Amino acid sequence: MDNYKRRDFIKLSALGFAGIALHLNSLTASAQQANGYLGKWDSNTKLNWDAFLERLTELAKTQHDLPWNQKRYTKQVKHLLRQCNFPEFENVKTIFENYENKRENWFESETLHKEVDFQVSLFQFERGEYIPHHDHPEMTGVINVVSGNLLARNFDLVEELNETREVTYENGYTAKLQKCVIKEVENEILKAGDVSILTEEEGNIHSIMPNQFSQVVDVFTPAYKEDTKANWYSVNEEGFYLGQKNSYEAEFVVS
Ligand SMILES: [Fe+2]
Repeated sequence: MDNYKRRDFIKLSALGFAGIALHLNSLTASAQQANGYLGKWDSNTKLNWDAFLERLTELAKTQHDLPWNQKRYTKQVKHLLRQCNFPEFENVKTIFENYENKRENWFESETLHKEVDFQVSLFQFERGEYIPHHDHPEMTGVINVVSGNLLARNFDLVEELNETREVTYENGYTAKLQKCVIKEVENEILKAGDVSILTEEEGNIHSIMPNQFSQVVDVFTPAYKEDTKANWYSVNEEGFYLGQKNSYEAEFVVS
């Protein structure tokens, strides 16, 4: 419509305008159908980026209907992610083509989309660029492997122990560490097309070990806020805590 000068546009007869509108409508409708856009899709329709975002925006609104069923929501997001062929999306393709391993021993990441309700992030890992145990406070995460192969482990925080200690790091910075017990609830090797899920209550702490170059698209709901403070855990994996299967003693920084 931008191509029409305003004056010309006003001159169009009502009939002419109706004709154009009809034409546009049918064009839009077929584009929508082809791309699973504006609800014109079923569970097997391949989604384009816009259709994916639109559907996700709708789904993410469910977080405001309390109580929010996070299990159901993350399952729905998983399904949505599986309807996407991310390497075909222009925005993702560009990032893939321009990939450089800029940070040694640490992943590269890009935010593909962010709004208050959710964010979509892309991570690219070289083999061995391990992300140690960390949590996602008050968030759900759906981790979708686009390529590669990685070990994803998820843990629940079982309890905070009545024990803290102070440490002084080499740079003089001191921190108070809180001891706690975490329990492994998931341990799986994910390959392209596989999805890992965490909710506020289940598997919220996780670690990622890429076994080869891997690319991952994550949906976090809600999005990270400025004051979101993830905890990073150092875990004693020499043995189970008090012999309890899959439970480990861990520490995280409280202040
Ligand atoms: Fe994470």
